[in-house]
Amino acid sequence: MARGYNAAMPDAATALLKRLSDNSAPYRDPLAQVNWNELGTDSDWLPESALSLYGLPEYDKFSAAVRRRLSQYEFINVMQCGLWLESVFLQRLTRRLHPGLPRAEYEYLLHELREETGHSLMFLEAIETSHLPLPPGVWRAPRLADFIARHAPAGGALFWLAAVIAEDVPDKLNRCLRQYGDRLHPAVRQICTLHVVDEARHITFARSRLDLLLAKNGALRKTMLAATGRLLLRQLAEVFYFPPAVFYELAGLPRGAAWRRLALKNPTRRRFVAQCLAPTLRMLEGSGLRAGH
Ligand SMILES: [Fe+2]
Ligand SMILES: [Fe+2]
Repeated sequence: MARGYNAAMPDAATALLKRLSDNSAPYRDPLAQVNWNELGTDSDWLPESALSLYGLPEYDKFSAAVRRRLSQYEFINVMQCGLWLESVFLQRLTRRLHPGLPRAEYEYLLHELREETGHSLMFLEAIETSHLPLPPGVWRAPRLADFIARHAPAGGALFWLAAVIAEDVPDKLNRCLRQYGDRLHPAVRQICTLHVVDEARHITFARSRLDLLLAKNGALRKTMLAATGRLLLRQLAEVFYFPPAVFYELAGLPRGAAWRRLALKNPTRRRFVAQCLAPTLRMLEGSGLRAGH
């Protein structure tokens, strides 16, 4: 691809964008990478200890079929969360594209848009391949996080803070799942791996923007941002790690709302979530935002 950066000596921000674009240039289409034939519903998609009800005495009484279906619906929930966040990213990043944008940023945004589009197509394909029923409207975005993601002033610290959290929470969940190695369904592992590779660049970009803006903010503004970050983190963790009540019912567990309440109080699940979120908390602290969960 022709480069044509007009700055003779790029500053640090331009150099970072150029490096990220260079790494994104050999594009790998997730639709062509995942072995879709493997993603049948006759095998567990997630290991048991990655499920929201695992560790409860009630879980031990579930049939193998219910456990299996739960593992599939819990990962479908993760992908639904991804579809929601990526749809917002795509809309907001697309609006940043205009002819006056510096060349390096314009190019990088195009790479990120292409990658996010690929992730969403991958999620759609995975859900469709499963042939599992998913009635329309059963998955809903959390209101506050959705509002902030859609309406935080473009290019401001709140926007980039929301972007960092919205990319880092799913990324750390993907990384936790990948640690299971062979115990994770191979196609699910491929999906997580493809996502992790691209997200590392997206998070680097969003963090660089956030840190630049935070350097100009005073202590009071940082305290306010940290408080909003806590709320966002809590809402995102809740939707990613605790599927909607209907998903429990779809997995064969009647009275889904009661199961969801049990999952939310499940100490084993709380520990799993805390472990996965720990790097996100450390990262926010590193940016001067104490965001204890
Ligand atoms: Fe993504
Ligand atoms: Fe991303």
